[in-house]
Amino acid sequence: MVHNIAIDGPAGAGKSTVAQKVAKELSFVYVDTGAMYRAMALYLLRKGVNREEPDEIGEACQNAEISIEYQNGEQIVLLDGENVNAHLRTEEVSAMASVSSAVPRVREKLLDLQRKLARTMSVVMDGRDIGTTILPDADVKIYLTASSLTRARRRYLEYQEKGEACDLAEIQKTIEERDQRDMTREISPLCQAEDAVLVDSSELTIDETVEKILSVYHSKVSEKDKRYEG
Ligand code: DC
Repeated sequence: MVHNIAIDGPAGAGKSTVAQKVAKELSFVYVDTGAMYRAMALYLLRKGVNREEPDEIGEACQNAEISIEYQNGEQIVLLDGENVNAHLRTEEVSAMASVSSAVPRVREKLLDLQRKLARTMSVVMDGRDIGTTILPDADVKIYLTASSLTRARRRYLEYQEKGEACDLAEIQKTIEERDQRDMTREISPLCQAEDAVLVDSSELTIDETVEKILSVYHSKVSEKDKRYEG
């Protein structure tokens, strides 16, 4: 029997780090849906599609072949057969993904792939609309958030570690703009599913956040098992 955990939340809340650890603890597969949107954005950039033109984006995305493979537990995103993992984390791709992920035809194209993965194996899937749209029947839904200042501080430290110049106020502003776009778009806006458990990681370490999600999972699954037995 497959079990699914959906983790949604804004950028920088720690979803991918936490989701990977939860998946490891439970021997589930971690599915990073943001990487699929990023691969689509890379495709659009390579094709020279204008990001101000949603119709052009909707048309062009139909020809992109995106698939997923797992190698030693790591998710590999294939774009027209090419492993594009190394090209997904640039500012240019982030900016295009933020715009193109609001285009309905882009979302439709990736929805099937995400649902298929969750049907065939137990997954911890993170994104923006997993609990609300992709996996409405997930065993556990988590809405993971943190204040915009906390998220900006985390990003600031990451840049500093890489030796890249950055400005905390600027990062916070970008995060707030991205939240606004993700939360107000017409299709699949980022929001907490009615039956999702809210976890605010502002005052929690990564391990505390992981523990919290695991305890929600264990209590939900044991409740379900009891219902089956009863
Ligand atoms: O989580 P991320 O930063 O890798 O996501 C990249 C972009 O894709 C971001 O702008 C939000 C969008 N996204 C989405 O709309 N729905 C998802 N399920 C995952 C990501």
